[in-house]
This record gives sequence, structure tokens and C-alpha cells, in this order.
Amino acid sequence: MENLRIDISNVYGFIPEEEILSLSQKTRKASQALENKTGKGDDFVGWVTLPSSIAEADLKDIEQTASRLRKEIDILVVIGIGGSYLGTRAVAEALSHTFLHLKKKTENPLILFAGQNIGEDYLNEMLEILEDKRFGIAVISKSGTTTEPAIAFRILKERLEAKTGKKKARELIISITDATRGALRTLAIQEGYKTFVIPDDVGGRYSVLTPVGLVPLAIGGFDIRALVAGAQAMEKRTLSDVPQAENPAALYAASRFLLYLSGKKIELLANFENKLHYLAEWWKQLYGESEGKEGRGIFPASVDFTADLHSMGQYIQEGERSLMETVISVKEPQTLLRIPEDQDNFDKLNYLSGKRLDAVNKMAELGTMLAHVDGGVPNIRIELPKLNEYYLGQLMYFFEKACGISGYLLDVNPFDQPGVEAYKKNMFALLEKPGFEEQSRKMKERLSSH
Ligand code: PA5
Repeated sequence: MENLRIDISNVYGFIPEEEILSLSQKTRKASQALENKTGKGDDFVGWVTLPSSIAEADLKDIEQTASRLRKEIDILVVIGIGGSYLGTRAVAEALSHTFLHLKKKTENPLILFAGQNIGEDYLNEMLEILEDKRFGIAVISKSGTTTEPAIAFRILKERLEAKTGKKKARELIISITDATRGALRTLAIQEGYKTFVIPDDVGGRYSVLTPVGLVPLAIGGFDIRALVAGAQAMEKRTLSDVPQAENPAALYAASRFLLYLSGKKIELLANFENKLHYLAEWWKQLYGESEGKEGRGIFPASVDFTADLHSMGQYIQEGERSLMETVISVKEPQTLLRIPEDQDNFDKLNYLSGKRLDAVNKMAELGTMLAHVDGGVPNIRIELPKLNEYYLGQLMYFFEKACGISGYLLDVNPFDQPGVEAYKKNMFALLEKPGFEEQSRKMKERLSSH
């Protein structure tokens, strides 16, 4: 069985190989701290052993719920924000037919996402689409109190109840939340929704392998056992006793950390398979929320190539030299398409006749890598044999483990997100939420003085 591979040889022109290797004690210590729960934020490292500890009974429970719901709905609306939706979206978009929504017949329910923004038109347009569709809801919130998903749920729940009646709606709503706390838990008990628990010791952005990701993905028809199996394989490959040179998570964490210290403050996650767009969104949250604190941290950004080579390419090649690039490359596409011969050859493309589109894509990737390295952008390459659940499981766990190690190398707590509260406090004050009277008064004073 092939595996995810990491290639850091295009970092060596910027950071000598020996220097990266000399970090191996530190990456091992960081990894041990994660595994032994002795580092910063140690009460949130339940995700480290999630793949190997998922119980068969829990998987069965998820699969049973999924198979019941799949018979009754055409659309599943996943309500959640941040870590409560990005993992599901990353996997679903990577593995779905790009034009699934335009297909006449699909064997799986279509997944739509709500509660990740407060756009009035967005939700109204979704309601319009749902009007004549059989739909269900997976409402996901660990705290059970996050404003954006709570608003979306209130609106969608009302619509579903109006459509099917309260009793039936209760069967079509699945809640995924904390074991004991939060408004969603209270409501779920009161209404009798089928409920799955988000473990206490797993934070939102590390939760894709909990019911947060597994339940909606199973309803959407994805192979969650393969996803877990991929993560299990990667859990073994990234254990602290695996030497750094053979340990993809340690290699990645060490390389990007040393690049950061050398002035490469921005990491671009690039793909040449645009189905990975939301994988990058998931990765940005994972790394941005884990590292960006105490005035430190690599800024995670992302690009879809080759499209963005025609918009961001100029800056990447010649702008400020504070970039590093991590490319996710998929070795083998799922389908095959060759470029046809054209007798007239007006477009002068006959030199490509008979070649697979993917062969052109791969040369674009290689050419881009060489150009960017020549232009001062170090390159880390991560190769997936294929896009499927198994390799996505490997990839996501790899990124999680490397992120934990990275946070410890940076000496921050990779499992909190105190900075997320700032906008919420202002918003609540502006909306005059009960309990925020004093902040509301100050906010009004501040705004009237402008
Ligand atoms: O990673 C995190 O903890 C956050 O992004 C949360 O997932 C996000 O804020 C949603 O929180 P909740 O699941 O409590 O609604």
C-alpha cells in the first residue's frame, strides 16, 4: 500500500539539511509532550490517539443513524462554523463530483453548509432551494452557544418543522455537541434529537475524526472507516519514537519552523487539484488558530493552481521574500482525459496531442516549483497517491500532529483560541445582548466620538 510522502529537498537551499536534522530532539520532545499530555493545553490532546481509539460500537451507531437518514432526505444541511464544519467540507468537496449539484440523479444526499456566515441572501437562497426538497439537519456546536450556527439552526429548524411537522422534524435533526453543557445539549434533550458527543478533550479544529466529521460524512455516503484507517496508519508513522528523518509530521514541523525563524513568515498551501480548496480552508484554521498568538506564528494562506498563478503568481515569484510554499500533489487522478489531435492546429497545441491533461498539470507543478525555488520561495511537497478517504485520513492526521508539534516548537498553546473572543464581545455589545450593557454603553460612546 502506498503512503503519503513528504519531500523537503527544496528547503535545503534555504536551511541546510543538517540544521533541520539537528532539530530532531526538539520535535521528538514536542511529540512526546503531545502523546504523554505534558505540554501546554494538555487537556485538549484527546485527538492524538483518536484514530486508534475509536470504538467499533461508535462507528456502528454513526453508520446506523446515517443509513436511516439517507433513506429520508435528498439534502443534508450541516450547520456549524470553524472546526465544526471545515473538516466535513474539506473531505466532502475533495471527494465529490465537482458538478454533483447539477447531476439529475445522485445516490447520496447532497451536503449544504449553513451557520458558517450570517449572510441574509445566502440563507434565504438556501431556504428557497430547500422548499421542495426532502432535507435533514446536522447541527454541530461543541459549546452549543455559538451565535452564527445558533441563528441558522433556529431558522432552518422552524422551516423543517413547518414542512414536516414537529414530530417528523425531530427524527430528521441530528445534534452533535458537548456531553453535558450548552444550549444545544439542553434543546436536544428536550426535543429528543439523536445526539452524538464531541469529546471534552478535543477542540473544534482537531475534531474531524469525532462525530463532528464522521456523522455528516457518513450521511453523505463517504467511507468513514477508510478515513479512520488512513488516520490510524498516520498515527503510527508519526509517533514520537519514529526518527525525524522517517517521520513526516516531525519533518514538516521542523522545516517550516526553521524557515519561519529565517524570515519566511507566510506559508502558502498550494494545490494543483482544485477539489482541495476546502482542505486548505481547514488547514488554515488548524494552523492559524493554533499558532497565531502571543505576537508569533506563521500566517497560513492558500492558493489554487494553476488558476492563482494567473493572479497571485507575480507576487509569489517576485514580491516580498517572506513566503514559503507547501504543495499538495495528487499522484493519480480518478479519471482520464487526453488532449485530442487537431488537423488545423490553429492553437499550436498538437505537440500535446495524446497527452493526458494530468501530464500537463504535473509539468505545470514541476515548472512552478522550480521557478518559485529559484525566486526565493522554499518548497515542501506532500504527495498523495490518490484522492480518497484513506489518503485524506492520512493527510489530515499528518497535518494535525505536525500542527501540535509546531505549536510546541513555537512555545505557544496550540489548543486555545483566546483571540476569537474579541469580535464576539464587540458584536454582542453592538447588538445589545443582555449581560453586555456596560460594553454597549462604552461602544456607543466610542462610535459617537468618531
Ligand atoms: O477550533 C475551534 O475551537 C473553533 O473554530 C470552533 O470550532 C468554532 O468557533 C465553533 O465552535 P462551536 O463548535 O463551539 O460552535
